[in-house]
Amino acid sequence: LYASILSGQTTQNMSKRTSKNGNLFLLKPLVGINMEINKNLKEWYFTEDDGKFILDSPDESSFLYFPIANASGMMSVISPELHGDVKTSQNTFLIEPVSSNDLHNTRSARNFWLYIESKGAWSVSGNSSCQRTNKYSSDKEKVVMEAGFLWHKVSRENKEIGILAEITNFVPAIDNTVELMEVKITNISDEKLEITPTAAIPIYCRSADNVRDHRHVTSLLNRISLVNNGIVVKPTLSFDERGHQKNYVSYAVFGSDENENPPVGFFPVSEDFIGEGGTFDWPEVIIKNQAPLKLSEDLINGYEAIGALRFKKITLNKGESNSFRLVLSINENGDNLKDIEYLKKEKFKQSFDETEMFWNKKLAALKFNLGDKKYNQWMKWVTLQPILRRIYGCSFMPHHDYGRGGRGWRDLWQDCLALLLMEPYDVKNLLLNNFAGVRIDGTNATIIGKNSGEFLADRNNIPRVWMDHGVWPFLATKLYIDQTGDLDFLLEEQSYFKDKHTARCTAYDNKWNPDGGACLKTKNNEIYKGTVLEHILVQHLTSFFHVGDNNNILLEGADWNDGFDMAEKKGESVTFSALYAGNLLSIAELLQGIKKRKNLNEVKIAAEILILLNTLNNSINYNSKEEKRKILDEYYEACKHSVLGEKVKVSIDDMVNDLSIKGNSLSEHIRKNEWISNREGYSWFNGYYDNDGKRVEGDDSGYVRMTLTGQVFPIMSGISTNEQTKEVIKSIDKYLWDPDIGGCRLNTNFNEVLLNIGRCFGFAFGHKENGSVFSHMTVMYANALYTRGFALEGFKVLEKLYTHCIDFKKCRIYPGIPEYINQKGRGMYNYLTGAASWLLLTVLTRVFGVRGIFGDMLIQPMLTKKQFNKDGIAEVQTLFANKIIIIKYNNNSKKEYGDYSIQLVKLNNNEIEYKKYNNNGIIIKRTIIENLKNTGSNIFEIILG
Ligand code: G1P
Repeated sequence: LYASILSGQTTQNMSKRTSKNGNLFLLKPLVGINMEINKNLKEWYFTEDDGKFILDSPDESSFLYFPIANASGMMSVISPELHGDVKTSQNTFLIEPVSSNDLHNTRSARNFWLYIESKGAWSVSGNSSCQRTNKYSSDKEKVVMEAGFLWHKVSRENKEIGILAEITNFVPAIDNTVELMEVKITNISDEKLEITPTAAIPIYCRSADNVRDHRHVTSLLNRISLVNNGIVVKPTLSFDERGHQKNYVSYAVFGSDENENPPVGFFPVSEDFIGEGGTFDWPEVIIKNQAPLKLSEDLINGYEAIGALRFKKITLNKGESNSFRLVLSINENGDNLKDIEYLKKEKFKQSFDETEMFWNKKLAALKFNLGDKKYNQWMKWVTLQPILRRIYGCSFMPHHDYGRGGRGWRDLWQDCLALLLMEPYDVKNLLLNNFAGVRIDGTNATIIGKNSGEFLADRNNIPRVWMDHGVWPFLATKLYIDQTGDLDFLLEEQSYFKDKHTARCTAYDNKWNPDGGACLKTKNNEIYKGTVLEHILVQHLTSFFHVGDNNNILLEGADWNDGFDMAEKKGESVTFSALYAGNLLSIAELLQGIKKRKNLNEVKIAAEILILLNTLNNSINYNSKEEKRKILDEYYEACKHSVLGEKVKVSIDDMVNDLSIKGNSLSEHIRKNEWISNREGYSWFNGYYDNDGKRVEGDDSGYVRMTLTGQVFPIMSGISTNEQTKEVIKSIDKYLWDPDIGGCRLNTNFNEVLLNIGRCFGFAFGHKENGSVFSHMTVMYANALYTRGFALEGFKVLEKLYTHCIDFKKCRIYPGIPEYINQKGRGMYNYLTGAASWLLLTVLTRVFGVRGIFGDMLIQPMLTKKQFNKDGIAEVQTLFANKIIIIKYNNNSKKEYGDYSIQLVKLNNNEIEYKKYNNNGIIIKRTIIENLKNTGSNIFEIILG
């Protein structure tokens, strides 16, 4: 009982669940957990309509951080107290890597000190032990944070000393690995202030691994040089997971003052800077205002370094200001000196303007304009998130304190969804390149290289298969084909990935030669290539046969829920079986579309795949696990080391027939056999079997065990009947809905550390993959509801999530959608999450209902009455057929979804032709959009009534 309290069950929720589940809970206040909401806390607000926002007193919230980055690979993170880090990769950190806890724990940060005569030392970022002590006093300093795309500004005002500091940080959007910082100080006192300024930015300059791996020894590699404008450090070697190597990367901190003068002196060694017994937040040289080293050509070797630059003493009269500019530079070839140019006022300003323009232009590809203005702005930050994940991967932010950069297979494909909506130009190649990661056994490479389409063979022998991986490429491909009409893409050829793992990582190919490259070869040792369609078929057909005792596809290493990772032998994922089944039917549909549109009757595939298209030759009993496995084993054996290289023609009709039989058989099985009811009379889909082959969901254990994931894919894939969907919604509302933390939890409290399912049950309930509100799945649930026509229900889910995210008092994050919301209601792992891509996709293609169908544009609004503005208007600006267009819905009769239908369609005020699609949609021919002018705005006005 105590454990469930510590795991964070709120008393309110517990008492709710007591009556629901018949379980006994202790009705006692929480121990040691502060769930209080600070009512006086200020919330962030948008200033204009360009996404800019302001947060007063950001220093009163912990764990806030903001990304500043660019596509050249500069990745910085900055907190309101200028903590955070700066890096270009796992092995090249300029500022020491920080995890979320380090944001308050470490004293090493971007700092800038002012020694004010007769007043003493003051840190513009609040990073002095003195300012920290004063933090909770009534005369605390006033701190304001302001941010836009993609810059961060903090101002800090100390009335007693009479000083205001404004610090702006950004990473130029265009082509360079630098972070720029400007510190502007203003005398707000009535007297003259004599100030000695010193920048102090510790230069860590090595691999993140070295934090706990030879931290001291690696400081001996440092070679520190003083140059006119600053300090450059170039370690002789780099020690990291690649071993000991000659190092070419150098790190620098440069600075200049108001008049573009260089520093007058330096404190390059951190132990000298802090002094014996000193610390970064109370450094001796600053506190005692000591003299710096002069410029010299002598190298300083073998110490921890700091970019501490002393500027000329200044006098500020009342109301006067002075600015200092700093450059934090990482250069792969040791050529940091070229970055000194940013110190020029003009260049700095130009870079700032270019950066703002760059991001605003990028985000203009998708803009929402609904009744809720705050929502429109918030969505801009969501739109930025998939771009950030492309830059940072799933690492390099304070909560993402794992990984070494890059993304996993699942994330790679899901980020393509957003890319397809925002930057579709180059996506074709990207998708095609990604298919090179598929193995002929239907699994895929797990090590993804830095460059597009680069997949690395697993030399470390970590045979892990995520059973859901096969479904995502098809979803992205389908979206691509629908958005572009590029049907030929399915017939483009690509190689397959090859390493020693075969038969879904259950066996080895002992003949594989690691030096022969990571591509599948034919028996004649030529690289084998098959169509995109063939890759997709391989992924789905192998999975179809790969079933466990209950005839669902085996869970293997895990599915979407990375935490379901301990049921490798007998675990089954019913929910992803549902998605595979849905995809099989959808592939069949796509093929029929191709046949019709391209007049194509046959496709060529590798001869071996005929084994998997078994209905072409013989039918087997799909209810028999043994018969299914036999086919699969035969196929694995046939392509264990290589393929024949022979292609056979298969008629599209036969293929469609085979896929339909398989898709329908799996759907039928799930619909009938995995539909469960509990003692309280609620019904839903069982999503999983554990490692003992036992059904996971239901209330047999004495607790109601239900997963959201288990429900999402049977709904999304069209497997649940309408009646079942309604029942599932009721059950989710009963057992998973928690409005205090943003909506739908990922699961109920299973009240057990289930080692026969996965590590996530070791997490406290309400956190991450164990019962938090996991945004990605919540959004996919909403998507599934919209897909099935449940717009009001879908809206309820999205609205709750959104209102929680913008409720700073509870969620405590900047605008955007976090990976999950924890038991206390705090948003966690903000910025880098697949939830952002899915939210964009859902709002554009389902809520606004604007999406492609074989290249034409479908318009099928699912907006609820509440979403239109007071004049009944809702607009979206999007890219379609390479044209920026605006879809403007006019619902001036204020009707609810379900009551309105499309009455009239105008393009730039002229009525146009369209075709009706289902009940409430219309299709506009692609050519109409292609023929639009590039200049001015192109508005499709859709009159609803
Ligand atoms: C993260 C991972 C994603 C995984 C999910 C659940 O989600 O990136 O691959 O499926 O956890 O384990 P995300 O950060 O995308 O929200």
